[in-house]
Amino acid sequence: MQRPLFHIAAEKGWINDPNGPVFYKDYYHVFFQYHPYSTQWGPMHWGHVRSNDLIKWEHLPVALTPGDEVDKDGCFSGSAAVVGERLYLMYTGVVNRDGNCYQSQCVAYSDDGVHFTKFPKIVIGGELLPEGFSPYDFRDPCVFVKDGFFYALVAARKGDSSDILLFRSSDLKEWRCNGSVLDYPSTGKMIECPCWSEKEKLLLYSDQFSVPEECRHLNIHSNFYRAGTLDCDTATFRTEKEGIVDYGFDFYAAQFFANTDKTIMIAWMQMWDRNIPCCSEGFAGMLTLPRYVENRNGAIYQTPVSLEKYVIRRECFEKKDFAGTLKTQGEAYELVIEGKGVKNLVLEVKKSDTETTKIGIEGGFLVFDRSRSGEKIEGAEKDALSLAQIRKIPLNNVEDLKIQVVVDRFSVEVFAEGKAMSNTVYPKADANGVELNVDAHSVCMEIKHLSVD
Ligand code: FRU
Repeated sequence: MQRPLFHIAAEKGWINDPNGPVFYKDYYHVFFQYHPYSTQWGPMHWGHVRSNDLIKWEHLPVALTPGDEVDKDGCFSGSAAVVGERLYLMYTGVVNRDGNCYQSQCVAYSDDGVHFTKFPKIVIGGELLPEGFSPYDFRDPCVFVKDGFFYALVAARKGDSSDILLFRSSDLKEWRCNGSVLDYPSTGKMIECPCWSEKEKLLLYSDQFSVPEECRHLNIHSNFYRAGTLDCDTATFRTEKEGIVDYGFDFYAAQFFANTDKTIMIAWMQMWDRNIPCCSEGFAGMLTLPRYVENRNGAIYQTPVSLEKYVIRRECFEKKDFAGTLKTQGEAYELVIEGKGVKNLVLEVKKSDTETTKIGIEGGFLVFDRSRSGEKIEGAEKDALSLAQIRKIPLNNVEDLKIQVVVDRFSVEVFAEGKAMSNTVYPKADANGVELNVDAHSVCMEIKHLSVD
């Protein structure tokens, strides 16, 4: 069965959001929203993988299974924190009662990073919500430790809008709400999966039905960041800058790893309300390659984690005053193009006689086109770019540029000027052509072919 070579995907079944990515006892752990029994969303479990290099992942038993009193109908998204020798997971327990879907915050812990024990009681229930907030849209706790307290940022709906609430506790059992943090509301209908990096001063959140703006937030639901400061005593977030996290088709529910020195982010590489062609292979959904993140003057700056350990062969093309085509073949690779004095540039990957995925420079943009990438992908988006299967990254400098492209069997992730776009593609297995059509003063294209098994 065809599987991504180095992206997290379920062995079988459905996955969505990454949950509680964390470094604990020598391993990076990633949990994820998981429905093991079909390739459709269903009662949510927490699937679990671990790795010591962020590339090669080992599948572990399901960490959280729904069905207890606190999470009878699902274990929704959440986060992790390491305290001493213990790993804590904080998640949303879902219970359907009287036709309503109650969402409350729950905790589980582990001392070996494999077996988890749930707290028997809900720790943050609807009764702790401030006036006007709904207990039916109250989810995705981001737990962290600061100045001797536990804090949890939790997304919550109020009327037609939503906010992020900050709760505080000294023992993870008794909590109280310090208030709602956003200085101005988000544009969408319901915030999901908030995540805070104290080190980078970056707040991530996803938002349902957010309002598109030129080439930003075109997906039906989109991921935002806000750079700013979080005052936990007064529960106030002051936004200095905000923006989109990823310009691609397939990116949602991004989370930072807890307990790492460098800031590392991972997201669901898929979007709600789209067909997922790999369902026929028995699995649906993947996560992005983990990537390093920095806050550079209020802008989120992303670079992929190193794949060097898995490079089996390198090819390097270097040309001066060149106008022409460079060709090779590859299935899974990292490709780096550095160009100076670029007048024209189109890279094609996953190319065969009938299929191609294009990445080119047009105007001031890096343009990604998956209209001929392979199996058809249709979503809920009806704007012209989405219907044409196009996404764009605005660039500052298109003449002197560096583009990094990470290609796996079913994905193409592109990085330039610290901006990123994540995209799934479903070409035939033999669509492995790589072609660079370029006119530049100088160009260097390096392809690092990968093998991860
Ligand atoms: C985001 C989300 C979360 C929720 C989870 C359920 O994609 O809707 O808000 O916890 O998925 O699977």
